[in-house]
Parts: sequence; structure tokens; C-alpha cells
Amino acid sequence: MKQLGRLRYVGVTTSHGRRHAELEKIMLTQPIDFVQATYNAIDREVEQRILPIARERGIAFIANRPFQRGSLVDWAKKHPLPGFAREFECDNWASLLLKFIVSHPAVTCAIPATTRLDHLFENMSAMRGIVPEQKMRETLVKYIAAL
Ligand SMILES: NC(=O)c1ccc[n+]([C@@H]2O[C@H](COP(=O)([O-])OP(=O)(O)OC[C@H]3O[C@@H](n4cnc5c(N)ncnc54)[C@H](OP(=O)(O)O)[C@@H]3O)[C@@H](O)[C@H]2O)c1
Repeated sequence: MKQLGRLRYVGVTTSHGRRHAELEKIMLTQPIDFVQATYNAIDREVEQRILPIARERGIAFIANRPFQRGSLVDWAKKHPLPGFAREFECDNWASLLLKFIVSHPAVTCAIPATTRLDHLFENMSAMRGIVPEQKMRETLVKYIAAL
């Protein structure tokens, strides 16, 4: 179908950390263009195998459930924005959480869902400013784990 021009990209998706072993097997054996799986500052299992394989094989990675369907960002917003958010060039929790995801070198994009325009603006602001380095990313993970 690709050769006929009927499909441009072929990939597989999963979520909630399900069936990563199967996903990995497909990535290693099939000529796919992208995968989609859950990745955020709490759900980080894909950092072990899936993201390194994606990077190595040039497979695009789409991060779903970036806010754990809202519960992660709702919970984060109950706490003050950390001082180091300034270094991330983020002025809200949603963009901080999204910048963590899209700054991983193997991540192609994150797909936050929203029904609200004000949330859309917050989320889109993650596309501005610096791309945090690994050390900064780890600071965020540790901060969230300690909250
Ligand atoms: N392929 C798969 O197996 C699979 C599985 C799961 C999800 N997905 C896809 O992944 C995407 C996201 O999924 P999701 O909806 O589960 O998770 P999500 O993007 O992690 O969470 C969406 C929730 O976050 C809230 N939200 C968004 N921006 C916010 C902000 N700035 N501040 C506060 N709350 C905010 C939204 O509420 P408001 O409407 O109030 O903003 C909504 O309830 C969707 O496109 C979905 O189709 C794919």
C-alpha cells in the first residue's frame, strides 16, 4: 500500500505501559515508521528500551497521555511552580510537563488533549524557549517524585 501511495506512514500504538515487549519486538523486526506509547514525567518505562530503539532505528515516537488524562497536570497545579521552571523557560505546569517529554531526543511529538482554549495556550507555550538538557529533565523528575 505504501508503494501504491495509499499509505505514507505505518506504525503501531499502545498506552498505559501495556505490551511494551510486543512493541519492542515489532520495532526490531518490522519496517515501521512510528510508534505511539505513554510517556510523561511519571510513566517513564519507555526510557528503558522503546525510546533507545526508536532513536537507533529512526522510528518516530509519539507520546500519548502526557498528562495521565489530566490527573498529572491537575495534581501538579495544586503545587507552586518550582523555581527552576524559569530555567526551562516555562511559566506554567502544563508546559513544564510537556517540555520534559518533547525534550527527550527520541521523542518526535506529544499529543495532549484539551477542550479548553486557555489550556491550549498553556500547552502550546511548551514549544517556545529553550529545550532542557538531560540534567534539567532529571531535576524535574526528582522534584515531582518528592512532592
Ligand atoms: N493509541 C492509544 O492507545 C491511545 C491511548 C490513550 C490516549 N491516546 C491519545 O492520546 C491523546 C491524549 O490522551 P488523553 O486524553 O488520554 O490524555 P492527556 O492529554 O494526558 O490528558 C487530557 C486531559 O488533560 C486535561 N488538560 C489538557 N491540558 C491541560 C492544561 N493545560 N491544564 C489542565 N488540564 C489540562 C484535559 O482537560 P481539559 O479538556 O479541561 O483541558 C484532559 O482532561 C489523545 O489524542 C488520545 O487519542 C491514544
